[in-house]
Amino acid sequence: MKVDTHADIFQKCYDFHEADQAREEGWYPYFRPIQENRGSRVVIDGREMIMAGSNNYLGLAMDARVKEAARAAIAKYGTSCSGSRFMNGTFDEHEELERSLAEFVGMEAALCFTTGYQTNLGAISALLGPKDYLFTDKYNHASIMDGIFMASGIHRTATILRYKHNNMEDLERALRRAPAESPKLIVSDGVFSMEGDIVKLPEMKEIADRYGARVYIDDAHSMGVIGENGGGTLDHYGDVNLCDLLMCTFSKSFGSIGGFIAGAADVIDYIRHFARPLIFSASMSPPNTAAARASLEIIRTEPERVHRLQAIARKMIDGFSSIGFDVGHTVTPIVPLHIGDYDKTFLFWRALFAAGIYVNPVISPAVPPNRSLIRTSFMAIHTDDELDQILEVSEREAKRLGII
Ligand SMILES: Cc1ncc(COP(=O)(O)O)c(C=O)c1O
Repeated sequence: MKVDTHADIFQKCYDFHEADQAREEGWYPYFRPIQENRGSRVVIDGREMIMAGSNNYLGLAMDARVKEAARAAIAKYGTSCSGSRFMNGTFDEHEELERSLAEFVGMEAALCFTTGYQTNLGAISALLGPKDYLFTDKYNHASIMDGIFMASGIHRTATILRYKHNNMEDLERALRRAPAESPKLIVSDGVFSMEGDIVKLPEMKEIADRYGARVYIDDAHSMGVIGENGGGTLDHYGDVNLCDLLMCTFSKSFGSIGGFIAGAADVIDYIRHFARPLIFSASMSPPNTAAARASLEIIRTEPERVHRLQAIARKMIDGFSSIGFDVGHTVTPIVPLHIGDYDKTFLFWRALFAAGIYVNPVISPAVPPNRSLIRTSFMAIHTDDELDQILEVSEREAKRLGII
């Protein structure tokens, strides 16, 4: 029988016009190619701009020692591991890095993945089985949600309960809903990626212990950023026993790409054998692995970088607040400028871009609708002159647009 009304799977693509419209109107902010990275400055469209929207918190992605380590690894191992960790893709460099990371975070073992995204995807989907309960903060990173979706695709029966952002009463309410005998995991960002605030971990751990739940912390924006030694959330609170699993990425403070999860040796070994994103994807490349190792050594031995970053965070939080911006509850170099209105957020972004300052507009679904914001983020390598310029231009343009 001939059917002449086939629906085309591509129709949704032909009907998608929002990005084209934004490009035509000159306010499309995404996928902007950077032509050159000069540390705290970048070149875009042939023009040098101050970068206030990168996660290269310690500036290590441009550090001469980190770049040299990457070059040396290419000379020794080549550009790719050409296989998954499970098969031919484990190099001694991966294992050296894992040993050093476990020691740095004070856990028995660590396991590296090719990206931070894959780390959350792999660890959560490996752990979350039938009849388990997972409790997740509403503002957790998308990779945590995607790990949950992947687990649901595999096992179907796990129960997911989302609690209000950093609200320990709501977390406890959710825990009370789960049967006492069911296995439970609480997952939270350490530093929240859009808000810059820190998980209330001591309270969380106390509640978790009462309900027999394990705690998993995503320190993507915490390591190299908070804590006296840049050790992240556990260092910030001065207690390595506050969580059972600690995850981090190398794409931010570590100036590389990749990620790791650390915890008890038995748990890490289980994840190693059941994490599909580890088993079915090629491992971290040699230069990325060596770069992460070199950065770890710098973070360990040069705490002054972390301290400079922390001083910059305080300067920018105080600076933006005193101008009249709503920066929420941040205490880190992630400083959100809450605007709310979608159009004003893009107009402000465009004004800053035209004035030579690169920041990131954040809209739904990354944040709830009507909570659009400009995410600014700072690096230990920013100069005071650059920071003052960012504050001065932001104040001028926000006043002009009626934002403050
Ligand atoms: C909190 C958090 N977790 C995980 C990731 C994923 O890390 P990666 O970019 O290294 O894949 C990110 C990245 O943006 C993040 O912000």
